Order: sequence, then structure tokens, then C-alpha cells
Amino acid sequence: MTGPQVVLVGPMGVGKSTVGELLAERLGCAYRDTDADIVEAEGRSISEIFVEAGEPYFRDLEREAVRAALAEHTGVLSLGGGAVLDEGTRAALAGQPVVYLSMNVGEALKRVGLNTARPLLAVNPRQQWKLLMEARRPLYTEVAGAVVATDDRTPEEVAQAVLDALELKEA
Ligand code: S3P
Repeated sequence: MTGPQVVLVGPMGVGKSTVGELLAERLGCAYRDTDADIVEAEGRSISEIFVEAGEPYFRDLEREAVRAALAEHTGVLSLGGGAVLDEGTRAALAGQPVVYLSMNVGEALKRVGLNTARPLLAVNPRQQWKLLMEARRPLYTEVAGAVVATDDRTPEEVAQAVLDALELKEA
């Protein structure tokens, strides 16, 4: 089967990009990120898309970006934290090597709590985080074949755990 070797899902700030780039290096393949694909295609930032066009518009773009990346990309792929909210996206992930990178709330606030560049956490980060994760945790778990906890682990350790979980060999 063609398609990505690894698909990373999980909440914003969990380290999908950092770990994804490390994985791509270790597997000797390319890294791709659907957020970056959307920014490039739209010529504006994710925050601008949310503010100017609204979240539903962003989710439509994201569903198409995920479909395109799954069809074209054979390396490591990271999805935006909310991609799993879309039913069509979840269906497209069936049979893919999806790994959910998880973290607890304390770790999340340390990493993203004060970062207002992330529009969904701009106001009352702790409360927003809890609500987000209550809605999303079951969806991450549904699409993923493996869960890798990132709390108290370095990006290198997380990357190793992902390789182990998928039984992937380094290039
Ligand atoms: C979002 C996560 C972001 C980005 C957008 C919405 C979310 O991606 O797609 O801001 O709904 O969780 P990252 O997970 O890469 O930060």
C-alpha cells in the first residue's frame, strides 16, 4: 500500500512537527504538515483564516488537505490538532498508520497555555483545553492504532516510541 509511513495526530503543542521532522530524518523520508499545506495554498496564516473566514471554512480546507496528503505523500505526515473533528477526515484515516501523541493538562499548559498565536486557546486556556480534550480524546483514540504519551519525554524519546509502536526500521 502506498501512502504515508506515519500519520501523527494529537492536540496542538504536543510536538507533532518536532517529532514528525525527527521521524522523517530517521526514516530517510520527507516530512509534510497539512497546516503548512493550507497556509501555502491560501497565502495567509491559520489565525487569519479563522478570523476572516471562520472555523467551518478552515475545516473544509483541512479535509481536502488531508485527503490530498494521504493520496500523495509517502513520508511522515502531521495533521492539525482539530482535523479529527471532521467525519470525512476520520473515514479517510482508516487503515493508515496513525499515532496519537498525547499529553496531560499540566504539560499542555506549560507548552501552549500562554501562546495566543493558537486561536482556540486565546481565552481561558485551562478551561478551553479541558473542553477541547473532552471532545477530541475519543476521536484521536478512534483514528489511531497506537497512542504515545509525550509527558516528561524528549522529542527523541517520543520519536523512538513511535518507531517502536509501528515497528518501523530506520533507513
Ligand atoms: C487547531 C490546531 C492547529 C491548527 C488550527 C486549529 C485545532 O494545528 O490546525 O489552529 O483545532 O486544534 P496544530 O495542532 O498543528 O497546532
